[in-house]
Amino acid sequence: MTFLNVTAPGYEHHRDPLGIGESVPRLSWTVRTDLPGWAQRAYEIELDDGTATGPIESEQSVLVSWPGTALTSRERRGARVRVYGHDDSVSGWSPWSWVEAGLLEAADWRAEAAAPPVELLGAPDGPAPLLRREFTLRGPVASARLYVTAHGLYEVELNGRRVGDDVLAPGWTSYSHRLRYRTFDVTELLHEGGNAVGAWLADGWYRGKVGFEGGRTRIYGERTALIAQLEIRYADGTSETVVTDGGWRCAPGPVTAASLYEGERHDARLEQRGWSLPGFDDSAWQPVCVLGHDPALLVAPSGPPVRRIEQRDPVKIVSSPSGKTILDFGQNIAGRLRLRVRGEAGRTVTLRHAEVLEDGELCVRPLRAASSVDAYTLRGEGVEEWEPRFTLHGFRYAEVDGWPGPIEHGAIHAVVCHTGMERTGWFDSSDETLDRLHENVLWSMRGNFVDIPTDCPQRDERLGWTGDIQVFAPTATFLYDCAGMLASWLADLAAEQAELGTVPVYVPWIPLLFPAEPVAAWGDAAVIVPWTLYERYGDPELLRRQYPSMRAWVDQCAERAGDGHLWDSGFQLGDWLDPAAPPDRPFDARTDRSLVATAYLARSARLLSQAAAVLGEEKDHRRYDDLADRVCAAFDTEYVSPSGRLVGDSQTAYALALRFGLISGDGRRARAGRRLVELVRESGHRIGTGFVGTPLICDALVEAGAADDAYHLLMQRECPSWLYPVTMGATTVWERWDSLLPDGSVNPGDMTSFNHYALGAVADWLHRTVAGLAPAAPGYRRILVRPLPGGGLRHASAAHRTPYGRAEVRWERAGGRLDLEVVVPAGATATVVLPGEPDRPVEVGAGHHRFTCAFRDAADDPVAERPGFFGPSRPQPDDTVDLVAEGA
Ligand code: BGC
Repeated sequence: MTFLNVTAPGYEHHRDPLGIGESVPRLSWTVRTDLPGWAQRAYEIELDDGTATGPIESEQSVLVSWPGTALTSRERRGARVRVYGHDDSVSGWSPWSWVEAGLLEAADWRAEAAAPPVELLGAPDGPAPLLRREFTLRGPVASARLYVTAHGLYEVELNGRRVGDDVLAPGWTSYSHRLRYRTFDVTELLHEGGNAVGAWLADGWYRGKVGFEGGRTRIYGERTALIAQLEIRYADGTSETVVTDGGWRCAPGPVTAASLYEGERHDARLEQRGWSLPGFDDSAWQPVCVLGHDPALLVAPSGPPVRRIEQRDPVKIVSSPSGKTILDFGQNIAGRLRLRVRGEAGRTVTLRHAEVLEDGELCVRPLRAASSVDAYTLRGEGVEEWEPRFTLHGFRYAEVDGWPGPIEHGAIHAVVCHTGMERTGWFDSSDETLDRLHENVLWSMRGNFVDIPTDCPQRDERLGWTGDIQVFAPTATFLYDCAGMLASWLADLAAEQAELGTVPVYVPWIPLLFPAEPVAAWGDAAVIVPWTLYERYGDPELLRRQYPSMRAWVDQCAERAGDGHLWDSGFQLGDWLDPAAPPDRPFDARTDRSLVATAYLARSARLLSQAAAVLGEEKDHRRYDDLADRVCAAFDTEYVSPSGRLVGDSQTAYALALRFGLISGDGRRARAGRRLVELVRESGHRIGTGFVGTPLICDALVEAGAADDAYHLLMQRECPSWLYPVTMGATTVWERWDSLLPDGSVNPGDMTSFNHYALGAVADWLHRTVAGLAPAAPGYRRILVRPLPGGGLRHASAAHRTPYGRAEVRWERAGGRLDLEVVVPAGATATVVLPGEPDRPVEVGAGHHRFTCAFRDAADDPVAERPGFFGPSRPQPDDTVDLVAEGA
């Protein structure tokens, strides 16, 4: 019995299409079938208003144009789809799915900005006041929507119940250009008669402290404010709107201080019971101040909000040498603690957070000025539950002071918070240490995809450093569906760039912390991130939207490079955190900074030319291709010797030159490849790259014909290497190769985070090359399955939920053979290249495929026979047994 099912359509990149900003949302669906090789010939869409496309001959199933009239503000529509196969199969109709527009026009907004009176605000990161208003509904409610945002951070309650589950809403955008509002369905929270709406309001990114070296406060303004519009439709068809206006009242709340970096203080004795219920006596509250705001800045989100994703129990509770109680959650996370406590009124429980211990005590030095201390003062009535609202910490350990009695099981949890993205990528192998590395990469993504892609979640930064996401985007887009989140961040990048005249090193931009100068590999995020999203999600519109920003970046760098096409002036971060750089000079890399800058100019110009081709910008396509050629030639002349050696002679220099196609002539390229292999061997297969070289080195070694050396580098456990931190107990990727030194002490440098995803960019190589699952056409419409087994691994697998459905690759080797299993989703195809058979690609369609070929792993050969191969990742004993048992 065969089946052919199609999912209900999704809209744009939304997980929950309520209150979207697109009036003609594109639709995507996936097909599940056991019909081998199934491919779509046509689709048919029906909308709930009667619009019916009839069968449309098209293989497209991802981001298909909206077939009806454009949605107007608040309009809700349903859609369903059915598909026809090339084999004349026809699916049934999918279930209906629903999409609802938010407020699409500035004129839809009637809400004013309700601001607490100045005397309730205090200094930045001070108390979080409460706002409230009562209103009467004259009849039964058919439906109700709350459109809400804030200058600052907010949480809303309706009739005593929390609205939604967003954390740190409205998140961080470049508020002076774009402020996201959220749409909530609050029908169930309202009733006929008296109702009340209340809000907590904190400073957050708007007015609180953000940034390093003292940071900045009041970046976006002096006054926080709530902007809320509650629209009610009665059962009788009439409607009513309650907005933030002068009728709201305000009072101090129990949150006496709230800081993203420094933590939150909550005095439960100051709680006012029933404050967000109707009938509460607010006569002692003060009227809010009504401030103007620009509704044209309000935009609907393109991705999911930050949420509380998972709760973790401590794995250990220990007493430190100095007698402190320390909880170990066994995993470094971004989040906060949740308490259940019973004790006397006025007692304060204090929580300190850190990523690591040093000499058995909490090590808070790496936090720099982000002290990360929460404090809860008990009201003294029964069991009290508390979790901070307006702060977040990067931690694995927490020190608890002031707890009444022993800490019982279940009394304290860690709550993991990050953007509520859908998980889409998995990797697994026969090596536990390698799997833990992959797990660490995943956790560093989770710790740093907190509304914007940040560098780290713990110290006084947590900024959207462009270079970090530039190198990590290929990994990120595999592990989670982050299209919507990164699209929002890129919109901010473009907005900041337009204002500053360059792509800043972090987005959103904070003036005065850093020079607004073009910096290679960082600013290149403007080109590389959109291109990566296009490659992984197949969305040309996103590319189109970013195109002016991409072009402006390349034009600016080309201008810097001048007629000589070498970018060799101005401030550069270079191959940041090269392991040879001294702890206090992270930019002091082995690789010439101008070489890095020129290499990136060539790369971005080339990608821009490809983007231009996709968008039909023929003139630009040729122009930027030509620019890329010129920069490559200039690079070649300036940095590559006639025989193919590079100035600088570093792992990163060769990796850049090989991967970005900067060396002319097969012979010279081969020579460069050989020199890279020599360098890697001379280093004892220890990594010698920083942020720039790290994502490229393994691919470069494979390109140089030295896959074994790539594996040796990957499987290395001595410092510096990818696996060294794993051997030291890391549960996330560290900022520097030796954030923890081999003697167990914490690196004395200022840049010592234990949760930075940049060096985890190698996971993309694990997915594409070790397991062998890579996109060969935008959105994985064609998949390249080209595993490169090695490193003594006996099996490896990757799975990815592509826009067409789940793709899987799994290989296993034993007895001189390799078995490969491939799952191709309906609507996609795959090119399968077996190890050792590069010239015999096999094309397959949707379905489950098995291949077998002869295969021997070099790592199984006796060590003595393999020059350059030595060290701890030598063959495991059972590998040897395997070999003997085979008898060859
Ligand atoms: C951040 C990095 C960033 C770098 C560049 C650091 O402080 O944590 O990840 O890319 O600065 O200067």
